[in-house]
Amino acid sequence: MGKNTSVGKYIEGLPKAELHVHIEGTFEPELMFKIAGRNNIKIKYRSVEEVRAAYKFNDLQDFLDIYYEGTSVLREEKDFYDLAYAYLEKACEQNILHSEIFFDPQTHAARGIKFKTVIDGLYGAIEDALKKRGISAKLIMCFLRDVDPVSAMKTLQEALPYKDRIVGVGLDSAEVGHPASSFKEVFDEARKNGFLTVAHAGEEGPAEYIWQALELLKVLRVDHCIHALDDKKLVEELVRRKIPLTVCPLSNVKLKVVDNIKHHPLKKMMEKGLFVTINSDDPAYFGGYINENYLAVAKALELGEQDLSVIAKNSFRASFIGESEKEKLINKVDTYNSSFEG
Ligand code: HPA
Ligand code: ZN
Repeated sequence: MGKNTSVGKYIEGLPKAELHVHIEGTFEPELMFKIAGRNNIKIKYRSVEEVRAAYKFNDLQDFLDIYYEGTSVLREEKDFYDLAYAYLEKACEQNILHSEIFFDPQTHAARGIKFKTVIDGLYGAIEDALKKRGISAKLIMCFLRDVDPVSAMKTLQEALPYKDRIVGVGLDSAEVGHPASSFKEVFDEARKNGFLTVAHAGEEGPAEYIWQALELLKVLRVDHCIHALDDKKLVEELVRRKIPLTVCPLSNVKLKVVDNIKHHPLKKMMEKGLFVTINSDDPAYFGGYINENYLAVAKALELGEQDLSVIAKNSFRASFIGESEKEKLINKVDTYNSSFEG
């Protein structure tokens, strides 16, 4: 690797996977207006600029209120298709070779949208993006933790006919006051049906919720997990079990979970031996896609090409693709490193 290289250029070309992105959080205002127009739905903002100006959040709930409002214009299969295809094109531009995408079916069911409409749209885009752009992607269905677990169980039943199109289940939405433990039964049932499991934990919530995700939900990855650092034993356990963590730096700053990117715990997490990846979470709302996240922490925490390369390899290692495919993608990082000249 060259010495005087621009880290930005290195990040742009670095092959990587994204493991924590909510498709509803990739909804750019321009597309929101377009879809609202064709569906004859009025939105409360007059312009794209006005929408962006509203994206100032004090905490997770503040963001979720606007995020769920944004989803209200999604009605038809084509709307979900266009949303996912736009994200996948952007992902290709940023050298994401594989993405595991969250979606929130309960949010759409609450507006009377059928599961089939959502899944056909999202999955159609994934198939086309693979054919046309070569990017691979998988879907992870999230349950809303601030909604009764009975509704989650019902959603799981609705998903069963489509289980070959959904690799796993997750848990998102407002965390504090909604512990992972309430979803033990649903996750047991999901695992019985072959779904892999992940969960948001330790974003705004305490380390205790991360323990619950590990012990009760038996998750294979933890989303966010930055509050693990409050509990030494938990850190040791996460290291011992090699549990991948999907960290989202710009999200943490935008939602005021971390007061300044310079104080982001990502580097400390790496130093403690945690299995860290970098992801965008809700890029249309948080001011950056995956490369902007890599760049922000690289600059603020002085990460070098070596650290970034470890993180990119981690992202493939932590993904839900087959072992031989993983090795191929990890080798692409090495090939990139040996050819990169800044
Ligand atoms: N946290 C929890 N739920 C979410 C998020 C998040 O950052 N984004 C979309 N749903
Ligand atoms: Zn998230």
